[in-house]
This record gives sequence, C-alpha cells and structure tokens, in this order.
Amino acid sequence: MFTIKWNGDSVTILDQRLLPKKEVYNTYRHYRDVADSIRNMETRGAPAIGITAAMGIALAAQNVSFKNVDGFREEMNRVCDAFAATRPTAVNLFAAITRMKNIIAQGNDPAAVRQLLEKEAMAVYNEDIEANKAMGKNGSKYISDGDVVMTHCNAGALATGGYGTALGVIRAAVEQGKKIKVFACETRPYLQGARLTAWELLNDKIPVTLITDSMSGHFMRTGVIKKVIVGADRVAANGDVANKIGTYNHAVLAKENGIPFYVAAPLSTLDPATKSGEDIIIEERGIEEVAFVMDQQIAPEGISIRNPAFDVTPAKYVTAIITEKGVIENPATQGITKFLKS
Ligand code: MRU
Repeated sequence: MFTIKWNGDSVTILDQRLLPKKEVYNTYRHYRDVADSIRNMETRGAPAIGITAAMGIALAAQNVSFKNVDGFREEMNRVCDAFAATRPTAVNLFAAITRMKNIIAQGNDPAAVRQLLEKEAMAVYNEDIEANKAMGKNGSKYISDGDVVMTHCNAGALATGGYGTALGVIRAAVEQGKKIKVFACETRPYLQGARLTAWELLNDKIPVTLITDSMSGHFMRTGVIKKVIVGADRVAANGDVANKIGTYNHAVLAKENGIPFYVAAPLSTLDPATKSGEDIIIEERGIEEVAFVMDQQIAPEGISIRNPAFDVTPAKYVTAIITEKGVIENPATQGITKFLKS
C-alpha cells in the first residue's frame, strides 16, 4: 500500500474515498487532476496534501506552455495558486507550495527549474517519512506497555508520505515490543477513523477497536482509555492546535479525566506566523457530508446544516506536542516559537 507516488511523468494516488471496500489507485498526468484529488478528498491528511501539491507542481512544470522564462514563472505561479485554493486549513499545503515557489522564483532556465522542482517534491515526500519515524521515536516514550490509546481521524500512513504522525508514535511503541490497544473514533462526518484508521491498523495487525465519537467520554471516565494521541493540521504560535472536527471535545474530556492528550505534528505543521487558533481558517465543507452517511440520506430534505471540517483545541488542553526535532511539553506555557528557534 502507498498513499502517493511520483512516476517521473505522472502521479499515482490511492483513492481514499473508496476505502476500506476497494483499494484503487488513480494515475494523473495533468496537474489539475492532482489538485482536484486534494479538493475532493481522494487524498487527504495535512502532510499528504502538501506532498501531493509538491508533486502536482513538479508535474505541471513538465507541461506548461510558455514563451520565455518570465512566462514560465507566471504560468507556474498560477499553478501554485490553483493548489493553494484547494483546502485552507492544513498549513503543510502552503509550506510545500512555498518551497516550490522559491525554486520557481530563483531559476532562469525552465529546463533546470523543472528538474529542481522534481527534486524538491521528492524531498518534501522523503523528509516527511523521515520526520514521522523520528516523531515515532520521540513520542513512543509516552506510551506504556499495556496502554489503551485513543486517536481521532486518521493521522497514519494514509495521511502522510508513510508511517504516520500519531499512528507513527503508536507504530514505534509497538515496534519496541509494547502491547498497545488503539481505540479509533469513527470521526463523523467523513469517517476517517472508521474507514481509514481502522483499515490501516488492521492491515498492520495492531489491535484496534472502533468507537463512535460520542463514546470517548464514557471510555475515559471508566478508566479504559489511558492516553489520547492525535495529529494536527496547523499549530499556531501559542500552541493552539487545529485538527479534525471533534478533537476539541476529546481534549476537554481528557483534561477532565486526567488523561494525557498528545499531538504528533511534524515541523511542517507548525505555523509560528499564525498567532493563535483564532486566526486559523476552518474549512467548511458540503452539507451532504452531514445529511448522508455514505450514500444513505439520514436528515430531512431542506434542513439547515453546518459542516466545519476542523476545530481548534486551545493549548491548555495539550499535554505535549511531539515533533521530529523534539517535544514541546506543556505548550500553553511557552508556545512553539522558542522551541523552533532553539
Ligand atoms: O479532512 P482530512 O481528512 O484531511 O483531515 C485530516 C486530519 O485532520 C488529520 O488529523 C491531520 O491532517 C493530521 S494527519 C497526519
């Protein structure tokens, strides 16, 4: 299984909308199809969409028509804007686009820039996998033998270049021989937990139990869940964390029940330019995701519906932010800026 693959003249993407029933890979030769694959959730997860955008931009560089280097730059900046317009919340997308834009701005020979863009896209991909493995090492010390660890959404191999962020920490703990059980929240409305995390962990033979989002409080209060670990889409300077809708509920319940709440996020998810969670744009998605479960309509026609795809967990609920560079313990007291500069 792989999430995204660069083929030199095309990009292959696992269609996550069809999981767990079907494992289908689509190969795209045009950057617009790659951008669409982010917008329509064929691929998803903060690091994965950054990698996909980088590969899509490298792909576009092979095909854009231009008269001179200025024309090439202009066309390529338009391509970058198309990727930036796909989804607003995960900062990894914008971090990857910025890396590609810097290369576009510097080069004077389109053929050379094309090669550099390809190299950079592969670097975004490879660095992500390395970061996940390092995060796994840094975070596994917080997971004890025998723990039941709850997670929300999918922050696994499917959401990244491979290995995963929150699931990477769990994988590392399992690789160290710790016997871990995972409780995966289903993650309404898009069901990334039920469809993706459950599938990914089952495939890896890591014991996983599926619960609905509203069951987390019950299993925390009754002492079943010992730790919570999630990924992130953007961490603001003050340590506030944007992640999949429902994360905030779990964090408040964890604090109430004295359960550690960990966030695993690569440096590409840390955004010191955004002051606090208040400044993070929360994507609002189509109402059909709430009105239907898969193809089944569950709400009456014409009902008013809201569908924010993410929420913000204030830093005071976060026990530690685990990165590839190290761990920010108690981020509410220090934010992330000092750590990034250290
Ligand atoms: O809407 P999605 O599926 O892209 O949302 C994904 C999440 O919220 C993940 O928890 C987050 O991106 C971290 S993935 C390592």
